[in-house]
Amino acid sequence: VAPLKVGIAGLGTVGAEVVRLIETQARVLAGRSGRGIRVVAVTARSKAKKRSIDLRGVEWVKDPMVLATHPEVDCFVELMGGAGDPALSAVEAALNGGKSVVTANKALLAKHGLKLAKAAEKHGGALNFEAAVGAAIPVIKTLREGLAGTGINRVYGILNGTCNYILTRMEQEGLSFAECLKDAQRLGYAEANPSFDVDGHDTAQKLAILASLAFGTKVAQSAVYVEGISSIAPEDLRAADDLGYRLKLLGVAVRTAKGIEQRVHPTMVPKSSSIAQVMGVTNAVTIDGEGIPPITLVGPGAGGAATASAVVADIADVARGIRANPFGRPISHLRDTKKAPMERH
Ligand code: NDP
Ligand code: HSE
Repeated sequence: VAPLKVGIAGLGTVGAEVVRLIETQARVLAGRSGRGIRVVAVTARSKAKKRSIDLRGVEWVKDPMVLATHPEVDCFVELMGGAGDPALSAVEAALNGGKSVVTANKALLAKHGLKLAKAAEKHGGALNFEAAVGAAIPVIKTLREGLAGTGINRVYGILNGTCNYILTRMEQEGLSFAECLKDAQRLGYAEANPSFDVDGHDTAQKLAILASLAFGTKVAQSAVYVEGISSIAPEDLRAADDLGYRLKLLGVAVRTAKGIEQRVHPTMVPKSSSIAQVMGVTNAVTIDGEGIPPITLVGPGAGGAATASAVVADIADVARGIRANPFGRPISHLRDTKKAPMERH
């Protein structure tokens, strides 16, 4: 069987790890997929930049659009980031050309997910984005496939590794917000614009994606109430501690009689609760399904290796010929997101 030919746009924290993982796990991937996976072409902003990956024999393409429409590429992997161009046009072009797309770009999906899913449905390519939420945690597949037969009442959790890392180090080491953010950036956890992390927008984007999968609604970031952690000081964490609480940035999507309520804000959680034990870059997502006890998935929520793990699993699905409805249902079955009035729980 011919190998799956992959084109990767973006060779930063995640993209470089994806190239490395495809190479180091080649035998495992071929065994699981029944065919090889080969990176045939790549692009990034700078060709001259030193990268710790071996790109010998891989074509360098100047423009993401050229890569997305490259006749040799079966699967276009978008790891540049950003809700606008070049990511949007390139992903659209790849899908419109019948190619499969794998992306970790939650900003793009939260804003244009419906349009992109329509293009995938129309032209038959896959649109896979396991890495967009919870990095290595297989939460997209859990909601889309594992719980396909279960009604979901609520999905909530810690969805941003950078914020949880900052809050943990501020609390445990008394460091300033700025110092912790700097370290999160150095470790490759933060977004290119870290205000997306600390102002809660990254969590909101992820929550919008989870809510669509959980409740069968059209993904809509604008329906999410957002408050971030940028004004939190070490004294706030100490005050919470004195009262027996810990501060966490939570994303919560819940089915109510008035619609789907979606909100992101710092929350005091009792120190004895399981969510309070989630520290550092770790993420945790709890899913309350009808008739079953809650399911909680916990794991590394950011970083090159953790994210690449999910990206490569998505590429392997394309190699195996697995194609899921991106948001779990045919587009015509997705309902409009009704914004429910905020209720504090
Ligand atoms: P980086 O900033 O480390 O890498 C971005 C890459 O995209 C770089 O190689 C950059 O090129 C390239 N790039 C940026 N703009 C352009 C452009 N206009 N044309 C061509 N190439 C471009 O980002 P990450 O790897 O951290 O993130 C990539 C994606 O993965 C984002 O959508 C992010 O939200 C998502 N993600 C990241 C996680 C993480 O932990 N880092 C976790 C989960 C998702 P150059 O190298 O030349 O500058
Ligand atoms: N910046 C994001 C985070 C990356 O810190 O969670 C993972 O999506």
